[in-house]
Amino acid sequence: MIDLLIQNGRVIDPASGLDEVGDVAISKGKIAKVGKVRGKGREVIDASGKIVAPGLIDPHVHCREPGHEEEETIATAAAAAVAGGFTTILAIPNTHPPADDETAIQYVLQRAEDADLARVLPVGCITKGREGKEFSEMGMMLQAGAVAFTDDGDGVASASVMQRAMQYARLIGAPLLQHCQDPDLAGGMMNSGAVAVRLGLSGIAASGEQIMLRRDLELMERTGAGYHVMHVSSAGSVDLIRAAKARSFPVTAEATPHHLLLTDAACMGYDPNYKVNPPLRSPGDVEAVRAGVADGTIDSLATDHAPHAKEEKELEFALAPFGIISLECALGLYAKALIETELMDWTALIARMTSGPGAMIGKPLGSLAVGGPADVTIIDPDRRWTVKTDKFVSRSRNCPYDGWKLKGRAVMTIVSGQIKYQL
Ligand code: DOR
Repeated sequence: MIDLLIQNGRVIDPASGLDEVGDVAISKGKIAKVGKVRGKGREVIDASGKIVAPGLIDPHVHCREPGHEEEETIATAAAAAVAGGFTTILAIPNTHPPADDETAIQYVLQRAEDADLARVLPVGCITKGREGKEFSEMGMMLQAGAVAFTDDGDGVASASVMQRAMQYARLIGAPLLQHCQDPDLAGGMMNSGAVAVRLGLSGIAASGEQIMLRRDLELMERTGAGYHVMHVSSAGSVDLIRAAKARSFPVTAEATPHHLLLTDAACMGYDPNYKVNPPLRSPGDVEAVRAGVADGTIDSLATDHAPHAKEEKELEFALAPFGIISLECALGLYAKALIETELMDWTALIARMTSGPGAMIGKPLGSLAVGGPADVTIIDPDRRWTVKTDKFVSRSRNCPYDGWKLKGRAVMTIVSGQIKYQL
């Protein structure tokens, strides 16, 4: 018996190359059939005029739990995820305390199970306390359910620590996610350039990102570890990743909505909602990051959803924390940056949000393969809507897109065959 039958949608499954009008049948939480389905479903959904895609994956979400539950919890992040069309999110470990042992990984999984909304896959720290010195127990965390490792918020500064982390990660078959930023060149508030000079704010140069990336590519060549570049922000980084991929390095990369849509000029009003790390850069960088996503150099899209309390984001620019939230509007933002500009079509965009991140974490997610988990997102590509942050289910509001008019929205999010969100 078919539990859920989604009929007459444009079924796009980048992992198998499928793009045709048809049906998706779901039984017992798994994909039972894709194509023309005969037979009845217990529940039938008419998806005419809509895109039926594998569940969207966001590989970079700050859930803030434990430690800052006033900003977000695993449950509210999961609720925001399904409202944005995401069936899977990766929980970044810069929590308080940082997720650097198996108990912390089990905690994330337990809280996600309690919430019973999106899949929340824990990411563990590369080093204990994110201090960049002593290794965390990556093997134990992997066994407990971690899918990747990162010290995000900071890059791993020491080349010897990073080299050993890569050797170990290769051995256990887990990807390392790097926030590329040389610490000697950090410490600023925004992109270094003419805008920073006018505003009297200290700068963070793109070279800081590129220097760590260059070093890591060198280490990768020696170790062969799987390595993922988080929130690529500069044209130089896109060039480095493109060249490394041409040499078949196992490097993957992600871009955020803000690095695809905003430049440092947005900081002119000293609004801390535009303060983010890595910072918003020049129009040339935005163009290069878009081109990198379009040609597949950047294979994943990621929000870097980074909730912060209102009181903190109301501080003056120099004192406010870095971070932007966008889980609930990311899909429309990506469409604005990449489809409305005619750089990509929906098939390619969906690939960057499904098969791209799915391959990076090496899990059977991000496809409509028969027998696999029935995670499905139904998208109305023509739906016009306005971002209203006061309607967000996220606990935070540090989102610079309030009032933006977007086209394209998830209208249904299905996780393991269960409808978790319906517009
Ligand atoms: O803007 C950012 N916010 N960048 C980071 O690397 C960390 C994140 C956060 O945790 O707030």
